[in-house]
Amino acid sequence: MAVVVITGASSGIGEATARELAAQGHKLVLAARRADRLEALAGELTGRCEVLTVQADMGVAEQVEALARQTVERFGAIDVWINNAGLGPQKPWLQADPADLKQVVDVNLTAPILAARAVVPYMKAQGRGHFINVASVAGHIGTWGVYSATKFGLRGFSEALRRELMPYGIKVSVVSPGFIATEMTKHRKIKMPGPEVVARAIARVVRRPRRELVVPGSYRFLIWLNAHFPWLVDQVQKGK
Ligand SMILES: NC(=O)c1ccc[n+]([C@@H]2O[C@H](COP(=O)([O-])OP(=O)(O)OC[C@H]3O[C@@H](n4cnc5c(N)ncnc54)[C@H](OP(=O)(O)O)[C@@H]3O)[C@@H](O)[C@H]2O)c1
Repeated sequence: MAVVVITGASSGIGEATARELAAQGHKLVLAARRADRLEALAGELTGRCEVLTVQADMGVAEQVEALARQTVERFGAIDVWINNAGLGPQKPWLQADPADLKQVVDVNLTAPILAARAVVPYMKAQGRGHFINVASVAGHIGTWGVYSATKFGLRGFSEALRRELMPYGIKVSVVSPGFIATEMTKHRKIKMPGPEVVARAIARVVRRPRRELVVPGSYRFLIWLNAHFPWLVDQVQKGK
């Protein structure tokens, strides 16, 4: 069974992924800022797998490094690191405070970069490892200013990292969800699948690394449309 770190495990996709991977008996490290939520989840998973909770703000470099260190101290290895913690747009970004915009970039993009910097030395020493980066369909189709910028950036970083780490037996996968019903999207009125659909996809990727998985798969058509006929997607956006 693998040692799996899940960032942003206190709600939504991260929480559902923890449940899914616990059912398979993996050793889990659950990280987020809300320690009470992590403790409650760890209590629920006790008996199914070993769990370590770590209160960490992924926007703070030292805390990202401490998370990697504590994982190795407890379990002796890091097999899979899932960069799931993320912040969505709270309000139109042109009206947001610069500090809030910086926080979105820090958590969504800088944290996975810092995590790779902290974790790759351990994975190289082990001769194995796997990063799973949770991007977004908004990282294929520019829609939400800064949020899209971070997710495009995360996909670009993941592609480069995958190539750079190939010689060391370290894999890099990207999972790109469409709209999913979580705290992040609770203000949206549209019908959305629950986070379990992404959790199951991530669990499949843990077993078999993939360059990129889009979930639900129906979003692949929209991504294709945007790549080949962006003016059509412009028209849809204009009509909103
Ligand atoms: N829901 C969607 O429609 C959707 C679509 C595409 C991609 N995604 C991506 O999926 C991932 C998970 O989002 P979600 O939908 O599950 O939203 P969510 O329920 O709001 O969960 C976000 C998670 O990120 C954590 N987080 C936020 N800021 C953090 C920080 N500074 N340090 C540590 N953890 C932090 C939160 O924990 P704390 O607040 O406790 O720190 C929470 O556990 C994100 O990367 C998001 O961009 C979501």
